[in-house]
Amino acid sequence: MAQVDIIDVGHSYTPDAEEERWALKPLRLTFEAGKTYALVGPSGCGKTTLLNILSGLVTPSQGRVVFDGLDVTRLPTKARNIAQVFQFPVIYNSMTVYENLAFPLQCRGWDRARIDVKVRQVAKALDLDDRLRQPARRLTADDKQLISLGRGLVRDDVAALLMDEPLTVIDPQLKFMLRRKIREITEQFRPTVIYVTHDQYEAMSFAQEVLVMKDGRVMQQGTPEQLFEAPASTYVGYFIGSPAMNFLSVGQDHGGFTGDFTLGGRALAMAWDIRTSGAQAQVGIRPEYVKVVPEPGVNTFPVRLRGVQDHGPQRVLEMDLAGQLIKAKVPREDGVPGAKEFLIHLPRTKVLPYVDGHLATVP
Ligand SMILES: Nc1ncnc2c1ncn2[C@@H]1O[C@H](COP(=O)(O)OP(=O)(O)OP(=O)(O)O)[C@@H](O)[C@H]1O
Ligand SMILES: [Mg+2]
Repeated sequence: MAQVDIIDVGHSYTPDAEEERWALKPLRLTFEAGKTYALVGPSGCGKTTLLNILSGLVTPSQGRVVFDGLDVTRLPTKARNIAQVFQFPVIYNSMTVYENLAFPLQCRGWDRARIDVKVRQVAKALDLDDRLRQPARRLTADDKQLISLGRGLVRDDVAALLMDEPLTVIDPQLKFMLRRKIREITEQFRPTVIYVTHDQYEAMSFAQEVLVMKDGRVMQQGTPEQLFEAPASTYVGYFIGSPAMNFLSVGQDHGGFTGDFTLGGRALAMAWDIRTSGAQAQVGIRPEYVKVVPEPGVNTFPVRLRGVQDHGPQRVLEMDLAGQLIKAKVPREDGVPGAKEFLIHLPRTKVLPYVDGHLATVP
């Protein structure tokens, strides 16, 4: 496995386009060796473009791609020592499952005994060991994709394992199981993994670090916890989380700076002290941290219930707070408040300040 550095890499599919229209705006990133990353973002944000630049399918308009100190920008895919798993299975129908898994190793000149050990190890991890002698053409689309994954995982000498939405064709029931398997296997074999998905849940449950993309830019790179607890922008707050983070406009008592914010005319305490002169100030709070409370106190606000959504083990309460929508995600057993009007509490350490769409400070 390798450390992958992207140094001022940018890409435009049309020559001479102004930078603002590039599919990937120039960026600098490091993927550390042996770590698992997810690239997540809406359709067209540049995920595949970035992945294809890493694999060599696309030569970037500018910048350098470096694997463990070696500049690979101009090297073809096969010279980069990477494994790839695509949206649709890439397997040889004329071969057995065993032969499919063994093939990438034969190509690299491994001896038979070594191939056998490795193929059986990966087949076992993917629960394919009882089907090794079956012809691949008889398998379901799910199983074929499992083999594609296996082909990516058999080689433990790869610099990186690149996956582009590999679970798209997979039956939803199986997705959960497969995601766990990929995770187990990557924990066992520790390749550098870069995994593209547009599903935030997949990204957050799978990767050690998530990169949230928008319009060819990486908006934030962080652990799932960092993205949940401290989104760097309102965009990330909306994109990550279900339902999205609440963002509420706040007033400021003393025009300049300090934490003298008001929400619906009442004082709002925050654990942060920020300067916000003249800018549009908002606060963000995750629905998971908004609590219905019986008694007034610091940071309690009267709300009116607008609606209730069922989210299985949780309910989402939609409330009106002085004309602004705020949501709370509450455990099902808490029930729905009996009255239409009640109080909610916003814990001060969970209320984050945003100025012009960006997190305004660090704790
Ligand atoms: N071969 C191409 N030629 C021209 N434009 C392209 C090409 N491939 C992608 N684009 C454009 O580049 C931008 C980024 O596309 P990309 O495929 O990287 O997005 P993505 O995040 O992978 O989207 P999706 O989730 O739909 O797969 C889009 O505006 C897309 O239309
Ligand atoms: Mg794509």
